[in-house]
Parts: sequence; structure tokens; C-alpha cells
Amino acid sequence: MAKLKFLGHAAFYVEGEGLKALIDPFLKGNPQASAKPDDFKDLNYIFVTHGHGDHLGDAIDIAKATGATIVAVFELANYCASKGAKVHPMHVGGSARFPFGRVKMIPASHGSGIVEGDRVIYGGNPCGFLISFEGKKIYHAGDTGLIADMSLLKDEGIDVALLPIGGNFTMDIDDALRALELIRPKKVIPMHYSTWPLIEADPKEFAKKAEMLGVSCEVLAPGGETVI
Ligand code: NI
Ligand code: MN
Repeated sequence: MAKLKFLGHAAFYVEGEGLKALIDPFLKGNPQASAKPDDFKDLNYIFVTHGHGDHLGDAIDIAKATGATIVAVFELANYCASKGAKVHPMHVGGSARFPFGRVKMIPASHGSGIVEGDRVIYGGNPCGFLISFEGKKIYHAGDTGLIADMSLLKDEGIDVALLPIGGNFTMDIDDALRALELIRPKKVIPMHYSTWPLIEADPKEFAKKAEMLGVSCEVLAPGGETVI
């Protein structure tokens, strides 16, 4: 059974046959986090959309503690490998078969610098993930503005889209609604909002407007989970 749990901000836990994975596990320092890095003992993959701290988060520490493989774009994967994590490098537009299913890297319009002390390390391109398993498709958009490329996702028949709605660094509610019209997923779950004042947004307003577009919307509180 395909299961998805929201951990706060853009962090999710995904479980299915042969898959126990985290996406963008920013837990330590995340005011919304519903879990701690130590809570995850049994994991096989960690998907990281880009190098910003609120997405790379605790990925390297959790990967080293659990033996999970970090899936990220080449440059970010190399950075994680240099810190001792097991990695599977990919790049935007590429897809790969995994024991649990298939993963495709989707374009995102954003940055991906990795801040380390007073340096910013080049992290490659940011991405979103299209993860297919158990006959279901999840799209985690990562951090992105509205881009026309999203219209290519309509043909995928996405079951659940995880879209940022907080604005300022990513799409706001209005642009996320325009993204919904391009992507036409069966269901949308909003993320990346109200973690800090700069990205304050009302998920209920988004849900109401998404339903008006004919897309079912589930607002998950941190710690909330759903079956796909
Ligand atoms: Ni970011
Ligand atoms: Mn972010």
C-alpha cells in the first residue's frame, strides 16, 4: 500500500513495496517538523530536490546512519558523496529504474547553492521528482516558480502532486493553481508554506480554489498521512 506522510515544510516520508524513503528531510531546525532525524532507522532512499538547507536538511546524516541512498542531481550527489553518503546521481530530464519503480527528475525554476560556513558551493540544477511505484505516481515539485514545462506532466496521469504555495521563494497560491491547470493531478497536497513569516499562506484558501478547478486537495498537518 502506497503511503505518504507530511513531516512539515517540504519534507515527506513515502512508503510502498520495496520503498521506504524521505523527500527533502529538513527536520533539525524546522519549526514545523513532526519528526527527528533519529526517528528513521529503516530507510532505503532519500530524494533531495536541491541544495538549500531547508531541503538538503538532515539528508547526509540520515543517509550515513541508515545506509539509505541519496538520489540527487550529479553536482549535489557528488557533494553528498564527499561527506560520506551513498548516492545515486541523476540529472534533470533523466529517469532511472529502481527496485521499487521508476524515478524521473523534473525541471524546477529555482537555485541550488549549498551554504557551508561563509562559502556557497555550486549544487547543480534544482529539480522535482516524479516517483512511480505500485502503479502510483507522486510528483514532488521541490522549490519552483510556475513554469510552462509543467504542462508536459499532464500526460503522466499524476496521482498526487506536492506543490509549494508559500510564495516569495516559490509559487504562491495563485501560481500553484495555474500549475494545477497545467499538471491536472488527481490530488494535490500543498507544502512549503507558513514555516516562516516570509512564506505565510492559507492552505484552506488554496484547497477551496483547487477543488473549484476540479482537483481534490488534501491539507496535511505536519505528522499527517494519507494513502495514495
Ligand atoms: Ni530552495
Ligand atoms: Mn525551500
